[in-house]
Parts: sequence; C-alpha cells; structure tokens
Amino acid sequence: MERLSPAALADIDAIVAAHKDEPGPTIVMLHDVQNKIGYIPFEAMEKIADACGTSVAEVYGVVKFYAQFTTEPKGKHVINICLGTACYVKGAQALVDRATELTGAPVNGTSPDGLFSVDATRCLGACGLAPVAVIDDHVIGQANEQNKLVKALTKIIAEEHDKVA
Ligand code: FES
Repeated sequence: MERLSPAALADIDAIVAAHKDEPGPTIVMLHDVQNKIGYIPFEAMEKIADACGTSVAEVYGVVKFYAQFTTEPKGKHVINICLGTACYVKGAQALVDRATELTGAPVNGTSPDGLFSVDATRCLGACGLAPVAVIDDHVIGQANEQNKLVKALTKIIAEEHDKVA
C-alpha cells in the first residue's frame, strides 16, 4: 500500500477535527475526505473510526454503501456513464465502450496515465435525457447524439496532450 503524503494526512486530521463534535460526523468526514483527496484512503477510515468511537469495518461499510465514495484514487477527469434502464436501451453501453477505448481506462477503473476514470453508474435521475454521461460534473444529455460524448472526450484528451507537449 502506498503511503499517504504528510500533507494528505494533515488534511485528514483537519477534517476529522473540524467535524468530530457534530452529530453523525462519519458521512460528513467521508464526504470532505473524498472531495479533498479524491478517494478514501485506509488511513482516513482509521482516523474517522477512532474519532467517532466506531470500528474501521463500520466506516468501511459506509464507504462501500454509498457510490459517491471510492477507496481507489480517481483519474484527473472522471467520466460517469449511466447504465440504468432508460440509458441502456438508448445505447449507453456503446458510450461506455467508446469512453474506455478513447481514454485507456477500464470500466470502473483509471487509465495508466492517471488522467481518466470511467465509471458505469446506476440511474442518475435524469432519464429524460438518456443516455446520460457526466464528465467532471458537466452533464451531457443525449450523449450519443452528434457524438457529443466522444467530441467532449476528444477535446479533453487533446488539451491534456497539449499540456505535456
Ligand atoms: S437510467 Fe440513466 S439517468 Fe435514469
């Protein structure tokens, strides 16, 4: 297991200290750690369990229950593609396939260069826009029309390549 940086550990300590006296602090702490660090490292679960007087197993259970939390670092750009029924029947699987091809990230995984994560998700609650994709909080409805998702991804990939060129 890779060790967390001192800065990340300090961030976790600050988050735990800020919320430990609030009611039901576990979720709030997890939410803040996810936002700050991009995932929930084991060390965070330990510190949160300690502060909340619960077990690491219980905190881990909460992490696993909510799809918003992840125990693996995410890529710089996170692509969520809904595979709920409405999106699936409108071709969402083909979008997942294209996204994995273009980014090199496996489904529910991260590309080797760390730039992209592709997540197949459950219904995002926007079925009227099916098929729906979300790139870094930017919602793309009817994502297969006029190749909207592919165009958006191609643009981001080009921008990232320009940064290293
Ligand atoms: S099924 Fe995709 S948003 Fe509901």
